[in-house]
Amino acid sequence: MAVFRFPVPAASEITPRALFDTRRAFLRDAGLIAAIAGASTLALPRAAHAQAGKAFAGAKPSPLSVTGEKPTPFKDVTTYNNFYEFGTGKDDPAERAGTLKPRPWTVAVEGECAKPKRWSLDELMKLAPIEERIYRMRCVEGWSMVIPWNGVSLSELLKRAEPTSKAKYVEFTTLNDPAQMPGLRSSVLDWPYTEGLRIDEAMHPLALLGLGLYGDVLPNQNGAPVRVVLPWKYGFKSAKSIVRIRFTEIEPKTAWNQAIPNEYGFYSNVNPAVDHPRWSQKRERRIGEFGKRDTLPFNGYADQVASLYAGMDLKKFF
Ligand code: MTE
Repeated sequence: MAVFRFPVPAASEITPRALFDTRRAFLRDAGLIAAIAGASTLALPRAAHAQAGKAFAGAKPSPLSVTGEKPTPFKDVTTYNNFYEFGTGKDDPAERAGTLKPRPWTVAVEGECAKPKRWSLDELMKLAPIEERIYRMRCVEGWSMVIPWNGVSLSELLKRAEPTSKAKYVEFTTLNDPAQMPGLRSSVLDWPYTEGLRIDEAMHPLALLGLGLYGDVLPNQNGAPVRVVLPWKYGFKSAKSIVRIRFTEIEPKTAWNQAIPNEYGFYSNVNPAVDHPRWSQKRERRIGEFGKRDTLPFNGYADQVASLYAGMDLKKFF
């Protein structure tokens, strides 16, 4: 039985955040953050996030990137995470995900399709030229980041499977190996972590098959070696460390919806007009900033994705 609930942000933002900032201040004093992160990411051309010697140094800047928003520092992107397979604390994934072995790795694409296949990581890396996509990301808990991802449109993989006319949905499943993921021994969710999309959502050009960030392969805590990235939905829709993608005729069950159905719906589009039952979703805290900013419908991607939901009551299909 799943018992865990996302903490109400007002509380969660104060205590863990304060500890986190104390640690950052310490590192900064030690001169480490300045040396590693570099203060000038915004001033550089976009592709410069991918530095020479890194796996995706040549990543092509995507026109789908947000512009004019400062990327969240690498340090924050990789130390303030949700990845319950490694614990429920924001620090836990960075501290514990060293046990995850991202190679060798395969992703099985199966279900309602003409060409099911088990893809190796090397094959996934060659699906299409790796891009740099700078996306605004919004967690359901009320914080947000701007992350320079590397990857290719998820559709590049899905279309190669030749989904049948019965393929109405796509289900994503995360690795389920307690030897690599100590958090699986607890019952915070019914494992494995699963997520799902309607097929037109999954085929949308913004839906990314994430293979890296900041120009290099994904750090384990961010969902190595391959994850989904859906910038117009709350962060929990973006399943990490996936091993299976399945085309289905009926709406797949998803981990958070199974755990607390009245709080987490199937769609989970970022929507400031629909409050979470335990807190408002109108505002958000951008990690690294003081104060709060307004949350945008579809997380600012309404022009691209709102048509997917035309005619739907988004209060009902939350
Ligand atoms: N995927 C798995 N397998 N397990 C998780 O606990 N957490 C989700 C999502 N994907 C989660 C997951 C949540 S709640 C968020 S906000 C994002 O991952 C966080 O991604 P990040 O740590 O790379 O920012």
